[in-house]
Amino acid sequence: MGIIYDQKKRTFTLHTAASTYQMQIDRYGFLLHLYYGRTEKGCMDYLLTYRDRGFSGNPYDAGRDRTYSMDALPQEFPCRGNGDYRSAALAVLNEDGSESCDLRYLSHEIKKGKYSLPGLPAVYASEEEAETLEILMEDSASSLRVILYYGVLPEHDIITRSVKIINAGQGKMYLEKVQSACLDFVSGEYDVLTFYGRHAMERNFQRTPVVHGNMTIGSRRGTSSHQYSPFMILAERDATETCGDCYAMNFVYSGGFKGEVEKDQFHQIRALLGLQDELFHYPLESGECFYAPEVILSYTEQGLGKLSQNLHACIRRHVCRGKYKEAVRPILLNSWEASYFDFTGESICRLAEHAAEVGIEMLVMDDGWFGKRDDDNSGLGDWNVNEEKLGMNLGELIRRVHNTGLKFGIWIEPEMVNEDSDLYRSHPDWAISIPGRKPVRARNQLVLDFSRRDVVDYIYGEICKVLDQGKIEYIKWDINRSISDVYSSVKKDQGTVLYDYVLGVYDFLERLGKRYPDTLIEGCSGGGGRFDAGMLYYTPQIWCSDNTDALDRVRIQYGTSFGFPISAVGSHVSAVPNHQTGRLVSLHTRGVVAMAGTFGYELDLAQMTSKEKEEIRRQIKDYRRYASLIQDGLYYRLSNPNTDPAGAWAFVSKDRREALLNVVMLEVHGNMITNYVKMQGLKPNAVYRDEESGRCYTGNALMKAGIPMPAELGEYLAYQMHFVEAEG
Ligand code: GLA
Repeated sequence: MGIIYDQKKRTFTLHTAASTYQMQIDRYGFLLHLYYGRTEKGCMDYLLTYRDRGFSGNPYDAGRDRTYSMDALPQEFPCRGNGDYRSAALAVLNEDGSESCDLRYLSHEIKKGKYSLPGLPAVYASEEEAETLEILMEDSASSLRVILYYGVLPEHDIITRSVKIINAGQGKMYLEKVQSACLDFVSGEYDVLTFYGRHAMERNFQRTPVVHGNMTIGSRRGTSSHQYSPFMILAERDATETCGDCYAMNFVYSGGFKGEVEKDQFHQIRALLGLQDELFHYPLESGECFYAPEVILSYTEQGLGKLSQNLHACIRRHVCRGKYKEAVRPILLNSWEASYFDFTGESICRLAEHAAEVGIEMLVMDDGWFGKRDDDNSGLGDWNVNEEKLGMNLGELIRRVHNTGLKFGIWIEPEMVNEDSDLYRSHPDWAISIPGRKPVRARNQLVLDFSRRDVVDYIYGEICKVLDQGKIEYIKWDINRSISDVYSSVKKDQGTVLYDYVLGVYDFLERLGKRYPDTLIEGCSGGGGRFDAGMLYYTPQIWCSDNTDALDRVRIQYGTSFGFPISAVGSHVSAVPNHQTGRLVSLHTRGVVAMAGTFGYELDLAQMTSKEKEEIRRQIKDYRRYASLIQDGLYYRLSNPNTDPAGAWAFVSKDRREALLNVVMLEVHGNMITNYVKMQGLKPNAVYRDEESGRCYTGNALMKAGIPMPAELGEYLAYQMHFVEAEG
């Protein structure tokens, strides 16, 4: 059983296959965190220590007992204002203006299956796959009630956390901060791993020791952002890819967020993840409730590689939905880097013909097909097909692309509006801006107020009119700026706008997915600016970065792989010199890198020589051969491309009989030192044959001694080796 309540000890114990999470209702009704780590059957309350610690106050109930302090004990859901001076998960502004909350246990329920959250994405699972624990807490002075949700998915070593807050009192209150998950550690030295970045350089890996102070990551941009991924890991100081205690916290939300790691005066560590509290001031009238998005937790003692595999499996099977969630995606050609805004219907059809010749399966028409949109200064919001530019109507264009044997996909950016658009001219108040102030422009566009249902409904209707013009098999949903000037003309409480905006986006996506269940939707935000588990609930893949340079992509995809599965990573082969960096990288290397993702092309095939086209044909054949191993296999990081001379990763089938090794040389020097790449995840005693050379190796040799990479002359060479277990 996944969830056990011990009535005598008043403990809740959550078991997954290889981890245990435990908490206890203590003598005053507080919910204390006891333990999260490898499987443990006993009661862990002996870990709590009680001392008289100066300047750490004592709850009134403790009477003269000065050894009991909220400031020192590990909390399950710490509140601001009750004597715990560390960063809080919950802060409430009461009707009387005070900011205090004192939550005590009232009751609990254990249920089969996994809870869901109205209007929000969340991990889903069948009754056989998951259990739910709901713990009801109350602040008796204000009658604020809180339900703490725990979802347990034993198979993948996943525990999810979320919170519902109910105003069961008479007065109005405001939520000032709501974090969905808190992890308190009473001892241990940890590193925190975060993934920072910028447009065209997302999810760079950073590993730093947790030191005294409070380290904060987050986004104030209304989206999860390029700047930090809403995801973090705590790992023991000496944890590696293959061993050591590691904890993941992955936020299932696409708006602003905050992640904190604090080391306190007693050397205890607290990690918090949840909604961004800046620009958040959420009113709850009597009887109203609020749901916080969920956080996925995972623990393993087997190092960072296994931790990522747990998350990959959970996101692929229990977050992504729809027809494509576990299917190999069509190999696509996107028109963006092929022609940017400069295309016609004819040129799109020609691109499709070239694509069909080399074996590509889908043509995607990117930005520029609607309204007045010959550059990025106008047209957003006017979702009517520019038939004059295309020289044909959309139905005809789709038919012609289909006639080449390809599927057809289209780009949209529903959340945005240009001032130079008919939509803005007729509804200026639909754009987010503050009356009396000039709004901040970004890419010369403004953000539509998706916290308003009428705005969402209108745009939804317009987009559906486009999608109904033919059989559209793919949609790329983009958002190309951060939100600023947060204000909604129909709202009294502006502290709700950013959260309600995200709910508006989710509502739109939910309806879209239901209406077009066979259509594959890819998320995008100037590349990977909204790359999060929340979006993956609606769009099973996300364009990973606007940077298609294969070398930079090795690092971007490396960082992304810590929290997200390969099937989520939109990745394409583009032209050289690369449009973002000017770098020259061979077609082979570009192919190897793009195969660590959904795989596709983003270039003008008409500009390619017949030799290059021949190579693309071979590349596509190779990809098809490996595609299910890449998507369904276990993913292993074999090097750190930020510090090692090569980027190396492998896909190993679940039965461990087949593996694909990928290596990209990042450095070249005179008199090169041999680079040995060590595999992971193979059966040590099995014999594996390299399909190309026919050479055989034991799994042990490949993992322990490694395999020497050739010392060829040339920059950024890539190698792919396909190992298959030899019979007998
Ligand atoms: C964003 C996307 C690109 C492309 C352009 C179109 O930057 O990330 O892939 O779609 O918008 O304007």
